[in-house]
Amino acid sequence: MSVLATVVLAFWLMLPAYIPNNAAVLAGGGPPIDGGRTWGEDRVLGDGKTWRGSAGGVLAGFLLALLLNQLAPLDVAGATLPSFPVNAALGLAAGAILGDIGASFVKRRSGRERGKPMPPIDQLDFVIGAFAVTLPLAHDWFVDQFTLPVIAAVVVITPLLHVSTNWIAYQLGLKDEPW
Ligand code: CTP
Ligand code: MG
Repeated sequence: MSVLATVVLAFWLMLPAYIPNNAAVLAGGGPPIDGGRTWGEDRVLGDGKTWRGSAGGVLAGFLLALLLNQLAPLDVAGATLPSFPVNAALGLAAGAILGDIGASFVKRRSGRERGKPMPPIDQLDFVIGAFAVTLPLAHDWFVDQFTLPVIAAVVVITPLLHVSTNWIAYQLGLKDEPW
């Protein structure tokens, strides 16, 4: 497969994992997941991780996968873009949100307040979460689709996409920080 086809496939496969954290920004608000609890000096997760944002994010990623399934299989730039089985759609969307929550947990333990950056964790937390949850949940599909070149493409394009979409969300006044 050409480099372009690999990048196109990687982008398609990750779309249900890319959308959740952006949707969480729009859906966020209300009670935080940690209920305001602290661990030592610091919050367990912080006010930036809410039930509403997390549920909205997972739902958005899952529904996007079902929408993409209406188009699949789709031939683009030499790649055949596959459909998402229900367990893969759920794994990618929920894993992305869980990865981001896990990163906030790590950030609080290292004393970083809400909104403080921690590259490259901020750019890749949801990728690690999406892979870690989808691998067991949709094992055969994951192994078929996420070949090593596709994973390499994901690792390269994701931070670039993440930085640019967050910058746009910041410019639009949707996010308090540009990361
Ligand atoms: N958000 C949410 N629930 C999530 C993830 C995000 O409600 N599971 C919303 C919150 O309003 C959050 C905003 O989206 O403030 C931006 O998300 P993010 O940058 O991940 O959170 P931060 O506020 O920067 O907090 P942290 O330092 O913990 O990442
Ligand atoms: Mg943040």
